[in-house]
Amino acid sequence: MEIKEIKAGELDPKKFVKEKVEEIRKIVGDGKAIVALSGGVDSSTTTLLGHKALGDRLKVYFIDDGLMREGEAKQVASTFKKLGIKVRIVSAQREFFEALKGKIDPEEKREAITQTFYRVIFARLIRAIGAKFLFHGTILTDIEETIAGIKRQHNILEQLGIDTEKEFGYKLVEPLKQIRKDGVRKVAKALGLPESIYNRMPFPGPALAARVIGEVTPEKIALVRQATAIVEKELKTEGAFQCMAILHNDRVTGIREGKREFGLQIEVRCWDSRDARTAAPTEVSWITLIYKIAERITNEVPGVVSVTYNITPKPPSTMEAV
Ligand code: XMP
Repeated sequence: MEIKEIKAGELDPKKFVKEKVEEIRKIVGDGKAIVALSGGVDSSTTTLLGHKALGDRLKVYFIDDGLMREGEAKQVASTFKKLGIKVRIVSAQREFFEALKGKIDPEEKREAITQTFYRVIFARLIRAIGAKFLFHGTILTDIEETIAGIKRQHNILEQLGIDTEKEFGYKLVEPLKQIRKDGVRKVAKALGLPESIYNRMPFPGPALAARVIGEVTPEKIALVRQATAIVEKELKTEGAFQCMAILHNDRVTGIREGKREFGLQIEVRCWDSRDARTAAPTEVSWITLIYKIAERITNEVPGVVSVTYNITPKPPSTMEAV
């Protein structure tokens, strides 16, 4: 079915919230639902809409898949506690690393993450509390890119013809699927979410696994996590749409303390974009790149001897590497 887009410029966020709350109540009736909150603007907005409509009948989980950034679980739980919403942290690192073992193809890696979320983790949570619905922060751009075959976004199911009720035992509720990132930010603000959330940089569902080229292992995730923290901190003042560190699979020859070191490579990307459909590299200052980012990454992230900056726009690049 064709989805009717609501453009950010035409969006009346208060009216949107009212309509979605009514719609959710109609769909869920007196049943229970779950939502997986990552702390990003899409899942946070979905959680708040769901909570407004259903109160405690919506159970909120943070899935710790081992692929998230430094300190993310605690930060998300504490932000939502302040909003009166209890977040339960689910430990699922083992399941995700097991599913990713030996996989190098980007789409296979994405598929392994999707299956682990939907078939294993969400199905288990749904059964445990007797819920029938899963709330989802899917936005229009996710749907379009998946349908176009560019990248299988981790959260696209129904639009690919997957009957979630038959396959996994629950129905999806996707209140944001008519809007894009800029629209979601307006709704998030209208719902009273803090600026740290409504202006938060996007972070992909497959998390740091989207930034490890080749096989994803706990060791590689630890390296990219460290590099990500440096990149996000040093580029904070750029006001970019998104910035990231990517760990390459190939090694290159470097020198450390006068000796040859066949080391790792990190690629830095920093994007200007309005809605993630197209993007251009930010003109980051040379000083920031060389003296802050390259120096810190090569000094602090073990084994890295080379740091590069991506200068390609989207298209032909995409924003994430995987
Ligand atoms: P790409 O790499 O497709 O990224 O140019 C466009 C935007 O989407 C984010 N992204 C994802 N978001 N699930 C998500 O929720 C995903 O599987 C996914 N893959 C990419 C990416 O971070 C960027 O903002």
